[in-house]
Amino acid sequence: MAKITFIEHNGTERVVEAANGLTVMEAAVRNMVPGIDADCGGACACATCHVYVHPDWVAKTGAREGMEESMLDFADDVRDTSRLSCQIKISDALDGLIVETPAQQG
Ligand code: FES
Repeated sequence: MAKITFIEHNGTERVVEAANGLTVMEAAVRNMVPGIDADCGGACACATCHVYVHPDWVAKTGAREGMEESMLDFADDVRDTSRLSCQIKISDALDGLIVETPAQQG
């Protein structure tokens, strides 16, 4: 179980609790967090689940992989901390995770 804080581009924060094994995208969708549309349902094929991982959490969430990297080419305003939230699996190690949703997805 992990507590995840989603911060919208306007500063609005939402804290959700999510079970291990879900993805950050699934935690967002189940809790109706705005800015995460997840059009492809988590297949790493849409980039509408783009988030910015807080710098303190980049090491723990790990590196993006090949397909995720390619899909991020379709996202706007990609930064070093950009991830597709459907590719981040929740575990106890991510308790306290903070991610921001891009303004374009607001
Ligand atoms: Fe489509 Fe993540 S939900 S890429």
